Amino acid sequence: IEAALTAGPLQGRHVLVTSGPTHEPIDPVRYIANRSSGAQGTAIAAALRDLGARVTFVTGPATVPPPAGVDLRRVETAREMLAAVEAALPADAAVFAAAVADWRVANAAGQKMKKDGSGQAPALEFAENPDILATVSRMGPGRPGLVVGFAAETEKVVDHATAKRARKGCDWIVANDVSPETGIMGGSENAVVLISERGAEHWPRMAKEAVAQRLARRIADQLIGQPVT
Ligand code: CTP
Ligand code: CA
Repeated sequence: IEAALTAGPLQGRHVLVTSGPTHEPIDPVRYIANRSSGAQGTAIAAALRDLGARVTFVTGPATVPPPAGVDLRRVETAREMLAAVEAALPADAAVFAAAVADWRVANAAGQKMKKDGSGQAPALEFAENPDILATVSRMGPGRPGLVVGFAAETEKVVDHATAKRARKGCDWIVANDVSPETGIMGGSENAVVLISERGAEHWPRMAKEAVAQRLARRIADQLIGQPVT
């Protein structure tokens, strides 16, 4: 009876969350990165855990600490993140909150690059990283029943995020407007639009933790009636 009283709506469910930036090496001591703190993904993982889910948390080198009570998988690069995600499946739902680097350095050096005295700077070449969200969204058997992506846009948020949802093949996109005038980027609040097959739903601006709790509730509602993976 105690267990039944305390069990959350995601009890018995496995949910995968990606979070943070990725680091793409230039040489053994240097890398390309982005400014993601990992705050929104961390809050989502914590909110899913609080509803009773077993959470696998695949995170790049974030600045905020990972939540307690999750199965933590630390990675550096986009390719490592994809491998960790594939190893963590199957899952009932997957939330891709990571700010994955779109490109890696194709001509990364095995040893520290040295100035050669010529005054010439090295030329970096780039290769496109695998799209983790699109890869999982387009899996046949083994695809999570609910796949949620994010989209950070600076203009035409609903249009761009709706197109992104179709392009990636995910079920939902959580879109946010990161144009400078919103002051959202790097802050503690978020104003998101949830894009689903039912269209665009504008959520009011709120703390990232509140966005996470609302999203976790929606995920729990969506999984009602779906067989357990
Ligand atoms: N994503 C991913 N793997 C990548 C790039 C992005 O899984 N290599 C995921 C992100 O975690 C996010 C979603 O895809 O959930 C959208 O990321 P975003 O950078 O907005 O989309 P891109 O397709 O990379 O398009 P853009 O050119 O706008 O950056
Ligand atoms: Ca991108």
